[in-house]
Amino acid sequence: MRKIIIAGNWKLNKTSLEAIDFVTMLKRQLDDVTAVDIVVCPVFTALADCSEVLESSNIGLGAQDVYWEDSGAFTGEVSAPMLKDIGVQYVIIGHSERRQFFGETNTSVQKKVKAALKHGLIPIVCVGETLQEREANRTFDVIKKQCEESLAGFSAEEIQKMILAYEPVWAIGTGKTATSQQAQEVHQFIRQLLVKMHGKDTASTVRIQYGGSVKPENIKELTSQEDIDGALVGGASLKEDSFVKIVKNCCDVQK
Ligand code: 13P
Repeated sequence: MRKIIIAGNWKLNKTSLEAIDFVTMLKRQLDDVTAVDIVVCPVFTALADCSEVLESSNIGLGAQDVYWEDSGAFTGEVSAPMLKDIGVQYVIIGHSERRQFFGETNTSVQKKVKAALKHGLIPIVCVGETLQEREANRTFDVIKKQCEESLAGFSAEEIQKMILAYEPVWAIGTGKTATSQQAQEVHQFIRQLLVKMHGKDTASTVRIQYGGSVKPENIKELTSQEDIDGALVGGASLKEDSFVKIVKNCCDVQK
């Protein structure tokens, strides 16, 4: 059985004060939820404050990136032990915006995942094709390469500690959600890749989130698909009403 996990990727939004207000409200509104794992991923500068508010709550805390070295002359970077030190539990790695705008590659993703695991952070590893790739019928090739390279060299035990996220780039922030069938098809493909890499027992325990224009109206249908185990939510995670509804609307989905 895989527990549904809903994570809010706030991207470059909310100051510390705004973040404190928001997580204080979420804590109040979602404190009775046990059926779904809930995570919020604020900007680096708001993490320590959010960590204090969320301590011993049912809402987990994630960062949006991490560097692979622990310390040293790497201006502007933040390391896994530093995140761990302030109570961060999850970290998004390889988001398409980082791949597109900041030169993230499968190789850097692999190194970051390794560093996260070494320090006990749960990586949320993102993959996804662009519109051009989908239209050229290259979706499965692209996903295969991203998964094989980003997840190279990890043991079955390590793979089980990760969360994967399929985010078709054309569905991010565009209002165009992949249909639940389109999403399920790719999720199933990713799980089959995991079966080939590490066997059925391992593959069946790994949670794979969907991301891209997730809303209260489509979360239930998406998470009702066999291989969709939750969502990585962008825009709709910034508003109180929509994030709370997204979590509540999938509480009764059984995997
Ligand atoms: P939207 O939900 O705004 O489409 O963003 C998805 C995303 O990129 C989450 O990581």
